[in-house]
Amino acid sequence: MTRITKAVIPAAGLGTRFLPATKAMPKEMLPVVDKPAIQYVVEEAVAAGLDDILMIVGRNKNALANHFDRVTELEETLEAKGDDAKLQRVVEVSHLADVHFVRQGDPRGLGHAVSRARKHVGRESFAVLLGDDLIDARDPLLTRMLDEHAARDATIVALLEVDPDQIHLYGAAEVEPTDDPDVVRVTGLVEKPAKEHAPSNYAVIGRYILKPEVFDVLERTPPGKGGEIQLTDALMEMAGDVEGTGGVYGVVFRGRRYDTGDKLDYIKAVIQLAGDRDDLGPDLIAWLAGYVASRGA
Ligand code: G1P
Repeated sequence: MTRITKAVIPAAGLGTRFLPATKAMPKEMLPVVDKPAIQYVVEEAVAAGLDDILMIVGRNKNALANHFDRVTELEETLEAKGDDAKLQRVVEVSHLADVHFVRQGDPRGLGHAVSRARKHVGRESFAVLLGDDLIDARDPLLTRMLDEHAARDATIVALLEVDPDQIHLYGAAEVEPTDDPDVVRVTGLVEKPAKEHAPSNYAVIGRYILKPEVFDVLERTPPGKGGEIQLTDALMEMAGDVEGTGGVYGVVFRGRRYDTGDKLDYIKAVIQLAGDRDDLGPDLIAWLAGYVASRGA
């Protein structure tokens, strides 16, 4: 099997939960402390050895393209000022990875977004990373998933045990144990089920290792939940070991994950990530403790 080098990042959502901040800017550019959310995701892919990135973008792609490109004017200004630290932070983003873009066109769901990667990906396995989920760099989930893919030659999803009240927000997996306590075999998947119909409380989170056969499956996947072409529905078919593709396995993630998909979770993510930083954490936490006390909470 050839080594996986390609990561696909769907980034064409309208980001309506963050309007008006996302009126003229993709939600992936919202800053999480001092980096746009999408940079964390690209850094995660690169750390796992995937430095060929394809972003599936919408109307507002310019900010994304500019962020991963050189900005000569800014570099010259910082150089003239002798501000090497900032210069380095600006330049390193443009050297992170090869970043390519394809437009989604009609936004017809996550499955449709992924199918737009077909030409770029070709006949190789590839990773999909969803920008709303940030995985702590200290808990390398993607590397673990790539290892499982190499060992099992199968489709790999990331699973998180969630409170049953939260399962309706995710794809939910029906699973069987394997010999490895961190890996389960996925026997069924359902997109955003009501709590009483969920097969388990294992939620699919936004990291996938897919085999190229998924493109054929996506092509015949009819619109599902919300009238959208759902990746979950295609993976349900893959779980049936389509054309001997090895089925679907789930890596159970027990590490730190930050959800930036809605306002409250986004604010929590910023606080947690800033709280962990040496330059900001001590002051932030001291202030926060005083603030919470002053609110009488
Ligand atoms: C998507 C998928 C869902 C998955 C989730 C993970 O939903 O459709 O199966 O559980 O990402 O974040 P979205 O959150 O984009 O609506």
